Amino acid sequence: MAHQQWDPLLYDRKHAFVFEYGRELIGLLDPKPGERILDIGCGTGHLTRAIADAGALVLGIDSSPEMIERARSAYPGLDFQLADARSFALPGSFDAIFSNAALHWIPQADQVAARIAENLKPGGRLVVEMAGRGNVARIIAAVREVLRELVQVEVEHGWYFPSIGEYAGVLERCGLEVRYAALFDRPTRLEDGEQGLRNWLAMFGGRMLDIVPGELREPAIAKAEERLRPALFQQGCWTADYRRLRVVAERAA
Ligand code: BEZ
Repeated sequence: MAHQQWDPLLYDRKHAFVFEYGRELIGLLDPKPGERILDIGCGTGHLTRAIADAGALVLGIDSSPEMIERARSAYPGLDFQLADARSFALPGSFDAIFSNAALHWIPQADQVAARIAENLKPGGRLVVEMAGRGNVARIIAAVREVLRELVQVEVEHGWYFPSIGEYAGVLERCGLEVRYAALFDRPTRLEDGEQGLRNWLAMFGGRMLDIVPGELREPAIAKAEERLRPALFQQGCWTADYRRLRVVAERAA
């Protein structure tokens, strides 16, 4: 997997929706005082903090040193560690594992699920939300079309957007029992008016756009905007065609 370089300030300022939507997921997690909870892909730590506010003993892990640094400086009283979701080894086991908007960055889902199962107590729960099958399908199609025309390349987006069936299989193979799963559209308004889509592409589109030579980057973005405008730009705002996969599972007791 190519290393994604994160700008934690841009993430917090312009993409606050990532963790704002995640707050609803904490209701599903229902953290209890004294529970030991792991937050995988904690980013800048805002949801880790919300879990800690419920009285749980929470550890946030993320593979981005920039994100961990920002989380530690924002919440010095909380525990954050640099770790890869595919290979983390932590002492003790957890009552619950939580992850919001992180696992779609990691195509090696079997490795992640194995680490989750190993680190959950028997009867422990997993609460996950990530992008699901069909996520940002219009944006991906437009960028691919533009790159085909402009630089004659076929790009793969490289994210992991599984269906319910696919992801349930991944979890079940690791001994986790799926109790709830939903795949739903969540059109997401991007901040900054006219700039919204290009900000999103700057933050998240690297895997597709890195291949574009510098001088063609701006024309490629402008063409993608032109194609997407009729469907995704309304009343001065861009909306990304997000689709979420939400899953609750349990490790057999
Ligand atoms: C998402 O949250 O759906 C997402 C974010 C960045 C890249 C791809 C998907």
